[in-house]
Amino acid sequence: MDWGIENRLSRLIREDGRCQFLPIDHGYFQGPTSCLEDPSETIKGLLAYADGLFVTRGVLRASVPPNSPTPIILRVSGGTSIIGADLANETITTSIDEIIRLNAAAVGISIFVGSDYEKQTLTNLSNLVSECEPYGIPVMAVTAVGKELEKRTARYLSLSCRIAAELGARIVKTYYSTEDFDKVIEGCPVPVVIAGGPKCETELEVFEFVYDGIQKGAIGVNLGRNVWQNPHPVAMMRALHAVIHNNATPKEAQGLFEELRNS
Ligand code: 5RP
Repeated sequence: MDWGIENRLSRLIREDGRCQFLPIDHGYFQGPTSCLEDPSETIKGLLAYADGLFVTRGVLRASVPPNSPTPIILRVSGGTSIIGADLANETITTSIDEIIRLNAAAVGISIFVGSDYEKQTLTNLSNLVSECEPYGIPVMAVTAVGKELEKRTARYLSLSCRIAAELGARIVKTYYSTEDFDKVIEGCPVPVVIAGGPKCETELEVFEFVYDGIQKGAIGVNLGRNVWQNPHPVAMMRALHAVIHNNATPKEAQGLFEELRNS
């Protein structure tokens, strides 16, 4: 692996081989999401605990202090909205010059396998890899499903993750599946991070799926709403840190969450 790629990945993935990314990119297609109306407020207490911040160039410039040591994963796909015809109809939104100027540690792009825009989004990924690799910038592919959350079966996720890796993604972000998640990991030759999805009913549910996903081989998470829509986001972030970086069990994470919440 080239030194530049390796250096950037080592800023995002800790020495233990694990990572906890914090996404705040939701506004790029759904506008001012609940608890993310003012991104600078949302990230205030959380940034210090994140191994990487997933963000668009606009919110990066407007809301993230340039002296923050947290590495940036720049969201570089978009062009659709929640009220538009099809969320899958994405394009690449950010040039390679801008990616370099913003000192991104990595970039992130969605692919929509099985959608009407499968070829377009897979070509977006391929082109982005070809643009970024010469500069040592790793690409993280996001296996997106738009509004069709029921698509998230292990079979579908395996297919999407493998295609993303084949096209050159250095990291793949995908959903956790209760069944056969180990098969999703086994079929993907690059590291996988777990995406969150809508907020769960309880904190324990989050700790359980993250713990199980990590034990089955995921290297970390990219969790947004289940952190910053929680009434105690810092406690949530730190309890997840314990699961990811210290192998805390869901029960131990729950204990830590309650201790931090009450302190
Ligand atoms: C949207 C994304 C987001 O980064 C991700 O889904 C947000 O995380 P969460 O679902 O945990 O709020 O890639 O396509």
